[in-house]
Amino acid sequence: MSSYSLVALVLLFSSALLCFATPKTHYHDFVVQERPVKRLCNTVNAITVNGQLPGPTLIVREGDGLVVHVVNRAKYNVTIHWHGVRQMRTGWADGPEFVTQCPIRPGESYTYRFTIQGQEGTLWWHAHSSWLRATVYGALIIRPRKGTPFPFPRPNRETPIILGEWWNRDPIQVVRQATRTGAAPNVSDAYTINGQPGDLYKCSSQDTTIVPMDVGETHLLRVINAALNQELFFSVAHHMFTVVGADASYLKPFRTNVIMLGPGQTTDVIISGNQAPGRYYIVAKPYQSAQNAAFDNTTATAILSYTSAPCPSKGAPLPTPAFPPMPAFNDTNAVTSFTSKLRYPRQAPVPAYVDEDLHFTVGLGLFNCPRGFSKSQCQGPNGTRFAASMNNVSFVLPSNWSLLQAHKYGIPGVFTTDFPAGPPLKFDYTGNVSRSLWQPTSGTRLYRLKYASRVQIVIQGTSIVTGENHPMHLHGYDFFIVAEGFGNFNPKRDTKKFNLVDPPMRNTVPIPVNGWAVIRFVADNPGVWLMHCHLDVHITWGLAMAFLVEDGVGEYETLQAPPEDLPIC
Ligand code: C2O
Repeated sequence: MSSYSLVALVLLFSSALLCFATPKTHYHDFVVQERPVKRLCNTVNAITVNGQLPGPTLIVREGDGLVVHVVNRAKYNVTIHWHGVRQMRTGWADGPEFVTQCPIRPGESYTYRFTIQGQEGTLWWHAHSSWLRATVYGALIIRPRKGTPFPFPRPNRETPIILGEWWNRDPIQVVRQATRTGAAPNVSDAYTINGQPGDLYKCSSQDTTIVPMDVGETHLLRVINAALNQELFFSVAHHMFTVVGADASYLKPFRTNVIMLGPGQTTDVIISGNQAPGRYYIVAKPYQSAQNAAFDNTTATAILSYTSAPCPSKGAPLPTPAFPPMPAFNDTNAVTSFTSKLRYPRQAPVPAYVDEDLHFTVGLGLFNCPRGFSKSQCQGPNGTRFAASMNNVSFVLPSNWSLLQAHKYGIPGVFTTDFPAGPPLKFDYTGNVSRSLWQPTSGTRLYRLKYASRVQIVIQGTSIVTGENHPMHLHGYDFFIVAEGFGNFNPKRDTKKFNLVDPPMRNTVPIPVNGWAVIRFVADNPGVWLMHCHLDVHITWGLAMAFLVEDGVGEYETLQAPPEDLPIC
């Protein structure tokens, strides 16, 4: 072989290596800006990223880096959160306002830099400031490394399906009004699929989202619940789902015709083009577990449309798509039947023993009208203000430092680390709770975890005001859901039922209404990590807490230094 061809061969080989193995860094510009958006016969000025609704879809591979330069040209403060991304040692890029960073003020910018490590599937990004995520959100798709297959036959098509929630008003004004009055915020006017409500709503049929498909094909739908305040059932007429992943973790595949997603959750499902070429409704409608609470009981649709469907004769209307049977809005059995089928694909690396055995109650509450407040500020039930809490602490964000900055720089007076390991008072959490236990206390209280400690949390719903399914999200971690059930968690009886073999791994767990779930994780990511209900109305009322995870030993167990352009408050 001549030396030339040897060089050529070496070059070819190394470029092949480059294209097969080298992770890539993806650069994106996000311009947060206001834009008139027309939905349901109304035009509303909405805050968007790059003028898009939903915002841009980011597609990366496992191992890749992301550098996203965010410029705020809108009139509100903003931050962007990469929902579900572990952010190993890069907590400064996590995004929740006043938790890991101060907000990006109008006219300012910040660059998020982070790497995707060990996660594959569907995640998403959204604003984490007030209620801005109503319109500031998009998909984050993580494909396997080049040369690595999916753990299922490669689908012919892939489509992100983002479920959203729409108000015919500026959502920031909706939450501000609620905060002013103490009452529940106005419910939304529509749900959306990829930004569009679909043809069951007025003035919407022209713009209904169409998802193409054809006979003999398989189609991976990456379903994301980006709605602000509503858990949603999701189904496609005449097409069974094979569920293959959730929250960017693979699952043992199983078949079902309906799934439920709490806000924050994602589910990857595969459908097969095994029906007559035609049009089929894709449907999202509410799962509502709270009793006697107002909610938006409308239905969003898109259309699965076979490309080989026969065209109607000239001038004739398209035939009406088939509609799938949907569970009733309060069908908790349908939810349990779905969530109980989720399994890790193999023996899960779930900690067998725990160092921290925590017990957190989650639920609503009511503040008696505070001294100095007028009647108009206490329009909650019987002249109160709505509240929510974990272990009876209603979480309050700081305003002059982020928690992570205060931790890093040792700023006193921003938070305390006395969040209780269990409820301050034991009572029948899901029973008829005495009115004297309905009022939480306010605080910015964190729970301190040693690096690498093995943590178990029994998350117990309460029936205060009303029992409700709460989609609980933990930042910076994936966790195993080892058990769930109804009523009060009973350590004697329920510990025996823990699945330590193949429990599903997720970043958001829906706590059954008037029930509980148990999660486990290893605290191997130093920083300050928010845990909260992903119904924005509940986080507004204080249904949150944060973990302070200490550094371990050496560089690889230590939070990175803050970036130079980190906003200050
Ligand atoms: Cu997807 Cu704290 O949020």
